[in-house]
Amino acid sequence: MDTRAELEATIYDMVQAGKGILAADESAPTIARRFAAIDVESTEENRRSYRGMLFSTPGLDEFISAVILFEETLTQQSDEGMALPEVLARKGIVPGIKVDKGLQPLANAAGDKVTQGLDGLAERLQLYKTQGARFAKWREVYPITAHNPTALGLEVNAEMLARYAAICQTEGFVPIVEPEVLIDGDHSIERSAEVIEAVLHAVFHALHRHRVVLECIVLKPSMVTPGKEHPVRATPEEVAEATVRVFRRVVPAAVPSINFLSGGQTPEEATANLNAMNELFKDAPWELSFSYGRALQEPALKAWQGKAENAAATQQALYQRAFLNGAARTGDYAPVMETEAFI
Ligand code: 13P
Repeated sequence: MDTRAELEATIYDMVQAGKGILAADESAPTIARRFAAIDVESTEENRRSYRGMLFSTPGLDEFISAVILFEETLTQQSDEGMALPEVLARKGIVPGIKVDKGLQPLANAAGDKVTQGLDGLAERLQLYKTQGARFAKWREVYPITAHNPTALGLEVNAEMLARYAAICQTEGFVPIVEPEVLIDGDHSIERSAEVIEAVLHAVFHALHRHRVVLECIVLKPSMVTPGKEHPVRATPEEVAEATVRVFRRVVPAAVPSINFLSGGQTPEEATANLNAMNELFKDAPWELSFSYGRALQEPALKAWQGKAENAAATQQALYQRAFLNGAARTGDYAPVMETEAFI
């Protein structure tokens, strides 16, 4: 298969009606924080056992088309001795890999950050392909303050995402392009809209300069919401309208799918906001979907508590959130389903 056909086949498998992406690519410090919240030590065995349990959830493939993995997971095995990417692939779920190497402060742009990991990326992708990965993910982070992101921050981060995406496509990997605008702070929804518009404008300009094929990327952005400390919460309808208004201005219709991150929203908020977008904007030119980490895993982690005997409850908690987000993909979710769905 030539590279373009390979990319198109992967997009076809990743972007499916009623389904979205599970982000299970927490880096070592992040998964340690998530485990610490339930008093579980982050050992390699605990990470293997937890993630193996998630991926073996019966029926996961009804609502999940792809899973983003952390590097270590590519070489780990299930309790039955099957490579974890293979566990997913056998269910028709596409395994992918987070390839960035975390954040550094951006010099001379106080408060802004930039992501590392481009050196040797093509060679790493060639290895990851032999381990079963078919797509990649790279995250740039933008804090919102009175001064951030700076003009320099916007430009440098967009350039990094575009260079990463171009390398991925050359190696036959679909790039998930993730410009995360942080929810932290007390900014208004209008300020969030202004920043996200500027960020996406810069990102698509850079993707164009680097000749990235827009039909073969997945965009993983933040929703337009007020900051976490803002005194007034926005309704799902307000989030949906503000988000789609901005995206219509700056995300070309050639992009097949927008898979939002949850970014600190509660599981219920993340589902309700996505649902409102699909209910109100059935004519949107892109799929409006999810690529949630915390919003899919929080209830599962709570159910697990590090105990093997809680495996069935853990899987049921993940399945329930995947089911509810699957309903949000078509605008058919209602909050009452939170309690009704599995009684
Ligand atoms: P959250 O949905 O928890 O924000 O995670 C998604 C992700 O992959 C962040 O990089």
